[in-house]
Amino acid sequence: MKQTVLTGIKPSGTPHLGNYVGAIRPCIEASKRDDLNSFYFLADYHSIISTHKPEELRQSTMEVAATWLAMGLDTQNAIFYRQSDIPEIHELTWMLTCMTAKGLMNRAHAYKARVQENEENRAKDPDKGITMGLYSYPVLMAADILMFKANQVPVGKDQVQHIEMARDIAARFNHHFGEHFVLPEAVTDDSVAVLSGLDGRKMSKSYNNTIGLFLPEKKLRKQIMKIKTNSLEPGEPKETKGCTLFEIFCAFATKEETKEIEKRYAEGIAWGEMKQFLFEYLNETIAPFRATYEELMSNPAAIEEELIKGRNRAREYSIPFIEELRKAVGFYPLG
Ligand code: TRP
Repeated sequence: MKQTVLTGIKPSGTPHLGNYVGAIRPCIEASKRDDLNSFYFLADYHSIISTHKPEELRQSTMEVAATWLAMGLDTQNAIFYRQSDIPEIHELTWMLTCMTAKGLMNRAHAYKARVQENEENRAKDPDKGITMGLYSYPVLMAADILMFKANQVPVGKDQVQHIEMARDIAARFNHHFGEHFVLPEAVTDDSVAVLSGLDGRKMSKSYNNTIGLFLPEKKLRKQIMKIKTNSLEPGEPKETKGCTLFEIFCAFATKEETKEIEKRYAEGIAWGEMKQFLFEYLNETIAPFRATYEELMSNPAAIEEELIKGRNRAREYSIPFIEELRKAVGFYPLG
């Protein structure tokens, strides 16, 4: 039996180098494996929890989809779809909601963090600004996963708790209504690089320190020139460890190229020279994909077509499965 791998990508903001190295690249590699069933989707139901600007959502959905396609996602093999194109997810969410202990949701890290923030700000209501969408987020995520009987869910460490909740919810449903769901496992990969951003902290949209994956050439150069370095002079030997320029370079370079650069650091390469080198290297690596990306961005219908193809394939699973579940909970014709 083939293992099923599934992961969701929340469209919010423009994909950056950190997203690519940490999440997109490993998934694209997995999308080519024919020993796996893989499902990748744009988690736009999740996006509307935090984005209430339709134009922004549309733009970001387009950018994320175009990025995955341009970087070589194998959509013949893997199923690539948009969550909001699968209405069965929604129906399943409600079935699961009715099997989810409220106390379980009270313990979700993301929710607890928001409550804590309110308490620190001495808000009158500890739930200030928290919608049911945010609160129930893990149930929706469980529906995403359980719908396609995923065995493995590759995620960042911050999402592991959500996968555990999906298991809990699935087990409770199975216990009541019979063995319908596969219990998923979170897969976190320590070997994938976590990139630092412009200021040396983890590259993240929330720190505003990102470098866009498909920035036009000039802007890419400008961003790279902004990366923080120490004040060592040209000619002084430099450490590669903890150096953002080196880290980004390594995430793209071969072993030999990395060795070569380590030597240059020991010899005291000037920061300006290293920055120029990194820019040229990245630019050359990314340019062909950027061209495909730009082509896709100027032809949204082509992106839409891929997503529709993915939707149709995904619904071959979700439609019969929701039928089975409807019967399981007791929705069937009376006569
Ligand atoms: N919550 C995930 C994130 O913010 C995105 C996501 C939604 C997801 N549904 C999922 C990930 C299902 C894995 C499986 O990154």
